[in-house]
Amino acid sequence: MIAIRNLSHRIGGATILDEVSLDIPRGGITAIIGPNGAGKSTLMGLAARLIPLQDGRVEIDGQDIARTPTEELARRLAIVTQRVGVASRLRVGDLVGFGRWPHHRGRPGPADHAAVEHALEAFDLTALRHRFLDELSGGQNQRAFIAMGLAQETEWLLLDEPLNNLDMFHARRLMARIHALSRAGGRSVVMVVHDINYAAAWADHVVALKDGRLDFEGAPREVLTGARLSALFGMEIAVEEIRGRPTVLHHA
Ligand SMILES: Nc1ncnc2c1ncn2[C@@H]1O[C@H](COP(=O)(O)OP(=O)(O)O)[C@@H](O)[C@H]1O
Ligand SMILES: [Mg+2]
Repeated sequence: MIAIRNLSHRIGGATILDEVSLDIPRGGITAIIGPNGAGKSTLMGLAARLIPLQDGRVEIDGQDIARTPTEELARRLAIVTQRVGVASRLRVGDLVGFGRWPHHRGRPGPADHAAVEHALEAFDLTALRHRFLDELSGGQNQRAFIAMGLAQETEWLLLDEPLNNLDMFHARRLMARIHALSRAGGRSVVMVVHDINYAAAWADHVVALKDGRLDFEGAPREVLTGARLSALFGMEIAVEEIRGRPTVLHHA
């Protein structure tokens, strides 16, 4: 479980997160939803200690991240952020290989090579492994970064908007892959997702943030209602049950 307690974050005079407390269950997929600027990326960045904690606590499986050595944290948790600027003259295979760094620290062995192969294959990247990142489409680039996170083989995988840029085929494939990891693989995945229908279809738990506060959380079937979503996004949103799950009709 990731236990978040009274997490607040300020930048300049602005409150970005305000006393957020929540438990992210171990195993399964937790979807974080909410409007742009709600604080979703900040919450994930704080939980992964990419951003230094100001106020509050985060415990990962009982361990306070403020006191966890960096290398140990990297073996427990991988995070793939929204597009970060990286050297574009890097090859796909090398990028995915970086995910193994916390395990081998410069001397990759057979298990590291196997994990890289597996991650490349899982995201349809084997044929692209020698390409430079700046020779990829947006979606291919996105998949390469997610493959790097997967190759890290951590209990926790945090993905910030992993579906961005993906076509329907690759979006569904990514969700199926993540779902399999969270089931057979026993891994715990936390992802920021904007298309609520993906959260409804695949997530075990939904967390909604609004204006830096926890707005609601719970099982998709229970919390993804028209009333809640309309209030969250400040627009009228119709939800219908299709094939037993909430489906948002938001395009018009
Ligand atoms: N480094 C930063 N400097 C100033 N403001 C920031 C910074 N990072 C985030 N913010 C602001 O904090 C708020 C929350 O951002 P973010 O966590 O990225 O939201 P979300 O991921 O939900 O869209 C936004 O208003 C954003 O502009
Ligand atoms: Mg964000």
